[in-house]
Amino acid sequence: MDKKYNVLIVGATGLVGQELLSLLETTSIPIASLTCCASFRSKGKTVKFHEETLPIVELDPKLFMHCDIAFFCAGGTVSQEFIPIARKHTLCIDLSSAFRLDPDVPLVIPEINKEALLHHQGVIASPNCTATLLLMAIYPLYKEFGVRRIVTSTYQAASGGGITLIRKLLNDTESALQGHKQSSESYGFNLFLHNSPLSEEKFSAEEIKLKEESKKILSDPSLSISATCVRVPVLRAHSLSVNVECAKDLHLESVYTAMRNMPGLQIQEDLDAALFPTPFMASFQKETFVGRIRLDPTRKNCVDMWVVGDQLLKGAAYNGLQIAEQVIALL
Ligand SMILES: NC(=O)c1ccc[n+]([C@@H]2O[C@H](COP(=O)([O-])OP(=O)(O)OC[C@H]3O[C@@H](n4cnc5c(N)ncnc54)[C@H](OP(=O)(O)O)[C@@H]3O)[C@@H](O)[C@H]2O)c1
Repeated sequence: MDKKYNVLIVGATGLVGQELLSLLETTSIPIASLTCCASFRSKGKTVKFHEETLPIVELDPKLFMHCDIAFFCAGGTVSQEFIPIARKHTLCIDLSSAFRLDPDVPLVIPEINKEALLHHQGVIASPNCTATLLLMAIYPLYKEFGVRRIVTSTYQAASGGGITLIRKLLNDTESALQGHKQSSESYGFNLFLHNSPLSEEKFSAEEIKLKEESKKILSDPSLSISATCVRVPVLRAHSLSVNVECAKDLHLESVYTAMRNMPGLQIQEDLDAALFPTPFMASFQKETFVGRIRLDPTRKNCVDMWVVGDQLLKGAAYNGLQIAEQVIALL
């Protein structure tokens, strides 16, 4: 008889946790039980799963003992504290950044490096959302032509910063519309460099994640990425402007062919209607979208493109679920 799995979501009331909950309703994983937990603040809340109403319980290490797969979507601090306990009992799929660069933890985008799953030791990390969307778009070129250098600027949605940043965008926008004086940090009708700490060299934590995680996923320490990450007043779905320098000679048609063959990547270009990917069209979609694909006339073997994807899905919950589905398929 097929095995059924006891599943736990840590952080089930958050943006990623809520997406995961709804994706689990249609997963191929046979689910025996689903437990949803969050912080003490959510005690007494409930969530819907299929026709059932499930209570949100407070995170407690005892929950790991009756669980086969635990998804961690409650931030790096919670993952760092609880995954070392949980991994003794259950497979941990971590959506936070806590273990992504740990050499003993596979960092996986299933369309790119699912073979890394074979070597897991109880913990698998799902990459940074922006790194995931970037690699989904450039991987076909990486495979076909080799990639020397990537230059990217990102346009990241508020939901990438969790519920707190969505509230800030909505509150600041309303305050601006009411005519209140805004500060330079106000988010309504404004944008700012990614709200993560800067290194001594003035790179944000997001920019460093993008570079280091991409190298790990592609097992390519020599990959050069220059990134500037920006938060824009968009609720959902990240966008990236990307310039890729390839090692081999490029023809536009072969770029299209390589991209068309990449699972999970969709070319969206209607030149007559001037339709290209936007955060609105990419929202709630599992695919990564690419458009405005053009050769860069200023540099040999370089291609420019515009990439958009729902970072809560392919950049987080959906990628995490794909990891679980793949691990089960490999068993
Ligand atoms: N948002 C994205 O686009 C995105 C993309 C990729 C990866 N991620 C990663 O996914 C994780 C979740 O992000 P999010 O955007 O969903 O954040 P969020 O909306 O702020 O949700 C955070 C969740 O964590 C729970 N939580 C916080 N402290 C806890 C504690 N001490 N014990 C148990 N649960 C606790 C919260 O529960 P309460 O409701 O009870 O406070 C809530 O369910 C983060 O690590 C983030 O870096 C996010």
